[in-house]
Amino acid sequence: MGGKVYFIGAGPGDPELLTVRAVRLLGQADVVVWADSLVSPEVVALCRPGAEVHGSASLTREEIARLMTEAAAAGKTVARLHSGDPSLYGALLEEMRVLEEAGIDYEVVPGVSSLFAAAAALKVELTAPGVSQTVIVTRAPGRTPMPEGEDLRMLARHGATLALFLSAARLREAVAALVEGGYGPATPAALVYRASWPDEQVLRGALADIPRLAREAGITRQAIVLVGRALDPSLKGPQGPSSRLYDPAFSHLFRKGRRG
Ligand SMILES: C[S@@+](CC[C@H](N)C(=O)[O-])C[C@H]1O[C@@H](n2cnc3c(N)ncnc32)[C@H](O)[C@@H]1O
Repeated sequence: MGGKVYFIGAGPGDPELLTVRAVRLLGQADVVVWADSLVSPEVVALCRPGAEVHGSASLTREEIARLMTEAAAAGKTVARLHSGDPSLYGALLEEMRVLEEAGIDYEVVPGVSSLFAAAAALKVELTAPGVSQTVIVTRAPGRTPMPEGEDLRMLARHGATLALFLSAARLREAVAALVEGGYGPATPAALVYRASWPDEQVLRGALADIPRLAREAGITRQAIVLVGRALDPSLKGPQGPSSRLYDPAFSHLFRKGRRG
């Protein structure tokens, strides 16, 4: 019988942010291929003793594909660990394509994205009621160009909460584009470096200050930048907005609202 490949979200770094399913599958896998540039060695320590473990950072796409297909064809269980959630900015698509072509069974196990670890570090609600009900997940263009219609200037027009992945080395250009597109230079913003790791750093400031703050801290990678009025600390004050969900006068499927 053929084996199976599990694409597993390894979370943002802290092993306590793995899902229960990820821990179970790691303990069962015969072969583990892990993104050693972003996933903590503490996560890999959860593999069963005797498992064959490969770091993917030094491997080519073809080598990763061969490892997974050969192991699965030999009836083995493969855990392919991606950082955060596998559906965001990884190599998931190309790896699934190889398995589809080879007729190998696979499953995707979601993980805690670094976006949510960053929001937790900042203690913010990304969708603050009446302030922003939309989160744009994007990146600055780099070696990977942006598809048409996804230019940062265009995305900025919405004024929504915006998360920038993979952009720590190009913050000056990214922030200039966001301001040009419509965010005021004083819009609340933050950068979270290595969210959930022991050396996590949180830099808060006005959007226009973020490139300087990052430069002064020497941060050029492994950071998420969040932008938008949802990050305004005053929203947590007594005058801040509340959701309708727990409003005493608001009826919904599970609770009848009180009048008056
Ligand atoms: C290849 S992408 C992987 C994203 C991942 N799939 C996720 O959901 O978090 C790598 C980028 O994710 C962000 N990232 C990953 N881990 C991070 C962390 N612990 N703290 C802050 N940003 C992180 C950075 O923007 C980094 O450049």
